[in-house]
Amino acid sequence: MSALLSLQEVSVWLGARRVISNASLDINRGEFVGLIGPNGAGKSTLLKTAAGLLPASAGACLSAGAPLRSLTAPERARRIAYLPQARPVFWSVTAREIVALGRFSFGAPLGEAPRDAAAIDRAMDEAGAAQFADRPAADLSGGELARVHLARALAGETPLLLADEPIAALDPAHQLSVMALLRAKTDEGRAVIAALHDLSLAARYCTRLVMLGGGHVAADGTPKDVLTPSLLHEIFNVDAAINITQDGPDIRLRPLGN
Ligand SMILES: Nc1ncnc2c1ncn2[C@@H]1O[C@H](COP(=O)(O)OP(=O)(O)OP(=O)(O)O)[C@@H](O)[C@H]1O
Ligand SMILES: [Mg+2]
Repeated sequence: MSALLSLQEVSVWLGARRVISNASLDINRGEFVGLIGPNGAGKSTLLKTAAGLLPASAGACLSAGAPLRSLTAPERARRIAYLPQARPVFWSVTAREIVALGRFSFGAPLGEAPRDAAAIDRAMDEAGAAQFADRPAADLSGGELARVHLARALAGETPLLLADEPIAALDPAHQLSVMALLRAKTDEGRAVIAALHDLSLAARYCTRLVMLGGGHVAADGTPKDVLTPSLLHEIFNVDAAINITQDGPDIRLRPLGN
């Protein structure tokens, strides 16, 4: 069977810069993939390309065997949900109206069917955003709004979720609950690719890590295979002491040479 998402030798040029170079990835149901790499490594660019929002300059992007560019926007939205890294809200809309946009490809919020309403309410519950439903979105705190946007991405109930730094603005309790939620979604048979900067949480919850460095896939495998002192030195410029056991990861980072 075709992979849920297949990137084959994908390169992306932005202006005069080659931001992604020959990236190949197959993502299957049941995988929670942590996309890690330093600032500017290309994580957001890769996710936008995988979402069909940025064209690949070379290579192929396939969704269940079909080229992404052959799908209409609603077809793509029913297969792939995308949570962007930057999520400003300038309009006078409620939190629930933002989440309802996650059902746009099914007709909501213009004509919200009972199935849409149930999916919207469920996603708000799961993301810990139900209590904000009727609040103006522009009044919410950064972390509260992040949970509302996550609910928007979950509401489409897509087989694949691409989440760009889903826990960056969250407090520790919500970081843990969102990572557990994403893992539960993949255990149910969906797939998630999440750009993450917290290597300990990535190692604890993800089934697979993909490390980007300078637009290249530097490593792809289990957390234990990918989080090695030599790769962290080469790609992240840090010295690392790492112990990944069944009880969880113990990762200590120091600046180089200290
Ligand atoms: N439109 C553009 N034109 C030229 N360069 C760009 C453009 N957009 C992004 N870049 C560059 O591409 C590189 C990758 O950017 P990207 O946003 O994908 O990084 P990232 O891994 O998501 O980083 P971060 O951890 O900071 O979010 C960066 O060096 C960035 O400056
Ligand atoms: Mg980014």
